[in-house]
Amino acid sequence: MEILDRLIDGDGRLRIGGERITASDGSGIDVLDPATAEVITAVASAGPADAADAIDAADSAAVSWSDTAPRERGEILRRAYELMVNRANEFAELIVLEMGKSFVESRGEVLYAAEFFRWFSEESVRNIGTIQLSPSGDKRILSIDQPVGVSLLITPWNFPAAMVTRKIGPALAAGCTMILKPASDTPLTALAMTDLLSEAGLPDGVVNVIPSNRSSMIVPKILADPRVRKLSFTGSTEVGKILLREAGSHVVNCSMELGGNSPFIVFDDADIEAAVEGAMIAKMRNGGQSCVAANRLYVHESVRDEFSRAFVTAMEEVQLGPGMDPGVDLGPLVNFSAQQDMSEFVGSSTASGSTVAAGGRAPDSPGFFYLPTVLTEVGNDDPILSQEIFGPVAPIVTFESEDEVISMANDTVHGLASYLYTNDLTKGMRVSEAIESGMVGLNRGVFSDPAAPFGGVKQSGIGREGAHVGMLEFLETKYIAADW
Ligand code: SIN
Repeated sequence: MEILDRLIDGDGRLRIGGERITASDGSGIDVLDPATAEVITAVASAGPADAADAIDAADSAAVSWSDTAPRERGEILRRAYELMVNRANEFAELIVLEMGKSFVESRGEVLYAAEFFRWFSEESVRNIGTIQLSPSGDKRILSIDQPVGVSLLITPWNFPAAMVTRKIGPALAAGCTMILKPASDTPLTALAMTDLLSEAGLPDGVVNVIPSNRSSMIVPKILADPRVRKLSFTGSTEVGKILLREAGSHVVNCSMELGGNSPFIVFDDADIEAAVEGAMIAKMRNGGQSCVAANRLYVHESVRDEFSRAFVTAMEEVQLGPGMDPGVDLGPLVNFSAQQDMSEFVGSSTASGSTVAAGGRAPDSPGFFYLPTVLTEVGNDDPILSQEIFGPVAPIVTFESEDEVISMANDTVHGLASYLYTNDLTKGMRVSEAIESGMVGLNRGVFSDPAAPFGGVKQSGIGREGAHVGMLEFLETKYIAADW
């Protein structure tokens, strides 16, 4: 695999101002294959001096990039889309290797990621202002949207390609330059993606990539630099709150895509076969390692047995193994600590009275695997219901009435996604409106789409990614009061 060979042969360097450089103090990060727990390679780990260089590079490129014609910016994004699609298999292998998910899912992610480049290549030419006569008739009110400026993008490990393109795409379309800090578990895909953008014609210094396992040393420094005007972060609510405090003290514009605790509700009138199929996607896509993963399954008591039986059977049929093995559906978790978390969640839930109906343990093999797990008889006060599980563990809770399940679903500080299955569309719409989440899957187990506004309410985030609004997150409105 050409991309991987290059990265292994010492190309895991920082990308700053078009140069490939080692960290100024020589630090590195070992990247592990989660299927074997063995080191694949090492990449440079940026320190404060490298972060300062990255800001300089992004700042130097800012004026010329924001002055680049929108069509030209769009064409670079379009070429990046095409290059990514052409190299989908190579990128997918890279994702399998550093993150663990199956090849089929990894390839799906690459195509999903590429779509953000395509979507924002089209949006780049749609930065449309407004003009109006003021109500008193004394002036024209012109409103234009300008690039917010140098942006810090911090991306997670769970979708090493798609979470990067979902931020880089709109930032480039809007005319911003940036510093990208990918997750330390999965820096390879982000480095390879930057090389692909250069090949697509992106000028040096527009995207600067600084993997680092010293976030607390470099991120506050970056946010404190007055040239940095934007933070776009995807990750846990806990880390998001720390970053919001940092950004708040410098009044940096923030878009935050934070943790979730998604309810998946199956009403008594649902098509149970479709609900099981949807639950398998909502729970098991990405091995459950998604902010929008179904975290709590609420099933009406009258269909509990039918749903649980079919769901347990489907979970037991999932093929677990290294992501590159043929026929594998579920790869390992990303790291040892994620595997430990699953054991702890299951241990504390069973201690609270739930029953393991499938899985419930790590298999006896190397790597960070965990069996697809179903917990039944879960009480509404089980601590697992207030945790973001982020893995292949599904607790099933029963309910009796619509009001009860809405109140159970909303009983969380999070509000990212929720899922409902019902054949009564009136009820479906009523509950969709009552539920406190930024996104609702109504008779669907997945809703991700570059054309859709992705994001949460409550402590699940601020702002939206994707859709037209995704580009607006990287623009700031200027009002010009004009007479002529
Ligand atoms: C996420 O887990 O944050 C992303 C999921 C998606 O884009 O579908």
